[in-house]
Amino acid sequence: MTAPATPETERFEREWLHLATLVDSDLPGWSRTGFSEEDRAARAWLLALMRDAGLDAYSDAAGNLIGSIEGTNPTAPAIVIGSHSDTVPGGGRFDGIVGILGAIEVVRMLRAANVRLRRTLRVVDFANEEGNPQGVKLVGSRAIAGSLDRAALEAVDAAGVTLAALMTGAGHSPELLSGARWRPGDIDAYLELHIEQGPVLTEAGAHIGVVTSICGISTFALDVAGRRDHGGTMPMSTRSDAMCCAADAVLSVQQIASARAEAVGTVGAVTTPSPLTNTISEAARVTGEFRSPSAAGLAELRAEFSATTAVRDRRHRTRSRLQWLHTDAPTPMDTGLSAIVVGAAEAAGERPLRLYSGATHDGVAMSEIAPSAMIFIPSRDGRSHCPEEWTELADIGRGISVLYGSVIAVDAR
Ligand code: GLV
Ligand code: MN
Ligand code: MN
Ligand code: MN
Repeated sequence: MTAPATPETERFEREWLHLATLVDSDLPGWSRTGFSEEDRAARAWLLALMRDAGLDAYSDAAGNLIGSIEGTNPTAPAIVIGSHSDTVPGGGRFDGIVGILGAIEVVRMLRAANVRLRRTLRVVDFANEEGNPQGVKLVGSRAIAGSLDRAALEAVDAAGVTLAALMTGAGHSPELLSGARWRPGDIDAYLELHIEQGPVLTEAGAHIGVVTSICGISTFALDVAGRRDHGGTMPMSTRSDAMCCAADAVLSVQQIASARAEAVGTVGAVTTPSPLTNTISEAARVTGEFRSPSAAGLAELRAEFSATTAVRDRRHRTRSRLQWLHTDAPTPMDTGLSAIVVGAAEAAGERPLRLYSGATHDGVAMSEIAPSAMIFIPSRDGRSHCPEEWTELADIGRGISVLYGSVIAVDAR
């Protein structure tokens, strides 16, 4: 019963341009960080857009926007599509945004083609996928999956503000989070359209990717203690300089990750309480992460970085404490569901490429409660998390068509 339906890409473009105005103009790029004022404004606009598309929509205790359209068999497990509308600070206009606007467009295509699904279709704009200064990613999808635990809610930023307080400040109800949780049997399938954020599709000349698995991530905080002394008088040979040890740790991350073809490692920040050129730093904090497609590889990266801690302390006469904050295991996408997506892409005339995702996604959390699959479309020059992030409108149209075809095929199986 596949109906011929095409996305209205001009409408997508208009909505995409509007969303790009709801950003923090004090930050570079297009910045709409989770639970910020701009995020709140964008969500109010998206909620209205969902309702206008015919969805019965609301915001849950975690701030997820959830819209549904009832199927002819409302007791059957639902099909869920969506993505996120928050951005990293200084980010672009496509990451997440293509997926949520694309999902709403699929709803309008179904209506235009007079297709009534058997299964209820839920569209979700997940809250704060990108994470926050408290270091917690995938906030809304974890709340839905039931894995946003107390430790995550109590995680603090540099000023001691908890994630729970950040959410409450944005008008949400972290104390009622159990009500945001979905039961595992509720969902038949989770499908997400997203930009690739890397160069693989472009280099292969492909327009559609189907994700095999999503990276594992281990985040860490390294606190280095040194000794505060005068930067003009203390000889180099006797200093205990926390900043030098921290700099050494940054390069350890680079060296350890570079030694493995499949791994990456990134330091996000080095901070010191005494940012003075005439004073030796008595303390420094390094926060970063390692990513790998394999759980064993990720464990080895953690072990190798842990082992370098004592070596650096001997070299710099410092004392370091390394904490592993959070690990997400690598998450394979569902093979059966991915095969349906491949079929839908082929039916749309595409030659989809299977590929691994080094970026994380709400599909990691959704996989805990439902078979999940992801559709990727090309990112120009593989750039993402930067203002230059770009995806051609024609590719967005292709991606929405494949999402539409996948929904129909999942419902028909
Ligand atoms: C978010 O985009 C991530 O990959 O952490
Ligand atoms: Mn994203
Ligand atoms: Mn992102
Ligand atoms: Mn992401």
